Amino acid sequence: MKTLEKKVEFAIIGGTGFERLFKNAEPLLVGTPFGIAAAISIGEIDGKTVAFLPRHGPDHSIPPHKINYRANIYSLHKIGVKRISATNAVGAINPDFKPGDMVIPHDFVDFTRLRCTTFYNEAPVTHIDVSQPYCPEIRRLLIETAEKLGLAVWDKAVLVSTEGPRYETPAEIEVFRRLGCDIVGMTGLPEAVLARELEICYASVCYVSNMAAGRQERLTAQEVSEVSKRVSPKLEQLLIETIKRLPYERNCPCAHALKDARFR
Ligand code: HPA
Repeated sequence: MKTLEKKVEFAIIGGTGFERLFKNAEPLLVGTPFGIAAAISIGEIDGKTVAFLPRHGPDHSIPPHKINYRANIYSLHKIGVKRISATNAVGAINPDFKPGDMVIPHDFVDFTRLRCTTFYNEAPVTHIDVSQPYCPEIRRLLIETAEKLGLAVWDKAVLVSTEGPRYETPAEIEVFRRLGCDIVGMTGLPEAVLARELEICYASVCYVSNMAAGRQERLTAQEVSEVSKRVSPKLEQLLIETIKRLPYERNCPCAHALKDARFR
């Protein structure tokens, strides 16, 4: 196993269709109290050292409900990461959103059921604030950069995360629509919350791979994978350009998430 010479402050978590970034990098296996994380590769973007972690593994072999979210986020924390930009394939519930669009969610609803959703199962009892669920600084830069690059981007959306691995029923999608959700995916949570619990900035670029169940006749993993692969060069460009502009200094609530989060 390779040892790290430098602290790595920036990371990208890749979703479906975005499983490789630094082509010749040696994979780094980081042990954590929660198990071994998905293999990380380290590279440079414009002088910044950046970690890339494909959450489904480099060959897309880990299903959404089996991803070790705690090990993944803890491993990034352990190597020094302070800011994460993640990517997620999603289905569109909002009829204005179309396959190929990028969406930067501002809020989420968690409908996962079987996942470990916290690092704080013991004392001190810890309640983090998620009034601003995603890092406002990374969100703003992602939106500005996407617009500069001429990409079709939605700058507000509510993401609902389901357990999977099956897709939803049309009735479930109708319920989510009535609750005010715009997009649906299986991997956005608890990742965003776990990052906040360790005071790591986190924002997501979602890309619409399909209309949600009931809004198109049939939904297949093949289709999700094909659209995701088609979108991935644009996604890569957006993430690289955003990381170039992302400052080390943080003026966002994420950096102080544990302040006043404990009763004593
Ligand atoms: N539902 C859940 N997860 C998804 C979808 C969907 O429609 N598309 C891509 N990931």
